[in-house]
Amino acid sequence: MSLSASEKAAVVSLVGKVAPKANALGSEALTRLFLAFPQTKTYFAHFDLTPGSADLNTHGGKIMNALASAAKNLDNLAGNLSSLSDLHAYNLRVDPGNFALLAHVIQVVLASQFPKDFTPDVQAAWDKFLAIVAAILTSKYR
Ligand code: HEM
Repeated sequence: MSLSASEKAAVVSLVGKVAPKANALGSEALTRLFLAFPQTKTYFAHFDLTPGSADLNTHGGKIMNALASAAKNLDNLAGNLSSLSDLHAYNLRVDPGNFALLAHVIQVVLASQFPKDFTPDVQAAWDKFLAIVAAILTSKYR
């Protein structure tokens, strides 16, 4: 699976809006994840999961900034995400099924925060981008 030139442009089109609001967007995505898919909370037992908490802002920001960085390296995604791939596979051992759940809520957040920008083409490109990121982050499981 790879992104076409137009899909890459559609992914990049949102990055400039995502980066400045990384903490808020990521916090909202995590809040939606824990509400809609409560089993995902098991990985974050050490966090304060109250909506808007410092833990959710900080961690949400890390996720969205990692995605913004990846979106700026679309020609070398595996290299850009290599250390995160090690972390999720060897240390965290997050069940791979959870990545699609996070990808889904991230798209809901982008749609609700940037409704004019989140056109069908942008949605399709982000869906594919997040699926590629998930495939890389789960590629070292065995
Ligand atoms: C840690 C990104 C998916 C659970 C992290 C970190 C980043 C990140 C940037 C911090 C790494 C560091 O501090 O060096 C991502 C991205 C994902 C993703 C881009 C997919 C789009 C998931 C999923 C889960 C998960 C689906 C589980 C439901 C965790 C946990 C930590 C972590 C438990 C450690 C948190 C801590 O104790 O600070 N992730 N992640 N991640 N991730 Fe992910």
